[in-house]
Amino acid sequence: MVNGTIPVDGPTYIRVGQSGALSGTVRVSGAKNSALKLMAAALLAPGEFTIRGVPHIADVRWMGELLEQMGVGVSQEGGVLTLDVPEIVRPEAPYELVERMRASIVVLGPLLGRFGAARISVPGGDDFGHRPIDMHLRGLEELGATFTTSHGYIEGRVDHLEGTTVLLPYPSVGATENLLMAAVLARGTTVLENVAREPEIADLAVFLNAMGGQVRGAGTSTITIDGVEGLEAVEHTVVPDRIEAATYMAAVGMAGGEVEIVGARPEHMEMLLVKLREMGLDFSPTVDGLTVKAVGRRRSVDVATLPYPGVATDYQPLIVTLLATADGVGIVTENVFGGRFRYIDELLRMGADIRAEGHHAVIRGVDSLSGAQVRAPDIRAGAALVIAGLVADGETLIGDAHHVERGYQDLVGNLVSLGAEVSYSSPG
Ligand code: EPU
Repeated sequence: MVNGTIPVDGPTYIRVGQSGALSGTVRVSGAKNSALKLMAAALLAPGEFTIRGVPHIADVRWMGELLEQMGVGVSQEGGVLTLDVPEIVRPEAPYELVERMRASIVVLGPLLGRFGAARISVPGGDDFGHRPIDMHLRGLEELGATFTTSHGYIEGRVDHLEGTTVLLPYPSVGATENLLMAAVLARGTTVLENVAREPEIADLAVFLNAMGGQVRGAGTSTITIDGVEGLEAVEHTVVPDRIEAATYMAAVGMAGGEVEIVGARPEHMEMLLVKLREMGLDFSPTVDGLTVKAVGRRRSVDVATLPYPGVATDYQPLIVTLLATADGVGIVTENVFGGRFRYIDELLRMGADIRAEGHHAVIRGVDSLSGAQVRAPDIRAGAALVIAGLVADGETLIGDAHHVERGYQDLVGNLVSLGAEVSYSSPG
């Protein structure tokens, strides 16, 4: 068993003991879901990029590997990632990497924008179920690209992308990012309508504009891009991770206590804060973040996930976990991903009373949970199970803990610093 540090061959288990109230200060990293897209956006220009606040997580390592096999020089020291992008890259994303991390699909837009060619392994489904990329492809086709699919790969080609108006049928985060990155080097003006409004998309637009792009309206539902001839390498600091911040809020909501979360941006999580306040949590702003305080049992609430600025689907496992021991009955409706309730079976093994059917989960708060051996099916559900373990009677052993390490630089170490009984553990 290893305490505090990740076992060399990756964390297999996270062990959680019943913990008292949490206290102290924790700092969030830069957002995973921004950093990965900024790394892809670097393909749009040759030269040396410096990206600060990049978390040390498996997804960043894998995106780095993908860029390296395209010919990009990649190094990370602390939170500073350096990318050395050559004049010509190999525009291909192989099966091994896309299969490991679906987010690799966001290299498609930059590759078509700069090189007019891309060959990407078709992403499969994952723990959330079927995850199509039809909106990415249709939008890029409207900009002039053509696609063929064979032997599990999509090949895209275009002489030069041409600006046009693209209306997304749904504000997909990844499709918005792919189209935005493609359009910065397109000829003429592109108007993207009904796009995703997440803070990570606004961060991407800041990055692209610093590179010399002409992007207006990111963070609203219409983005206008005037294509430019070329872009240049820049320095940038990644927006803080609102999902990591929410994870510490949920930990305090569950175990009680008072914790300052440095880097949390309340303006990026307004709907979540409304719901957590309804549940009985208190928040107060600090110079560079906020303090969260929780005393006693939470009240049950109803929550529906929605694209930003609604309550993010990534918070959903944390919310269900908070409701599992709240006073009363809460209904959570998952509107973004069909298969994102699979982890509920694990909470049931810990004594929760939850009935999930289709897009709805009815959570009847129980007085206590009991520690059990469970399995992390994905990043956020894994974090939610760690948080459930904080109040469970006895010990909770969470298998497949490498999922958690995909999205959190040091969830275990940070929770330990707040007084929680958590450790990494090897098999046996
Ligand atoms: N969709 C389609 N067709 C498409 C694209 C999306 O039908 O072409 C559907 C999806 O199947 C899903 C919905 O649209 O039902 C939303 O998907 P979206 O494209 O918005 O999500 P994403 O870009 O694949 C990102 C985050 C997720 C986060 C979602 C929603 C990254 C790397 N991933 O995924 O984060 O849950 O947006 O906010 O940015 C995580 O961090 O653990 C994570 C899963």
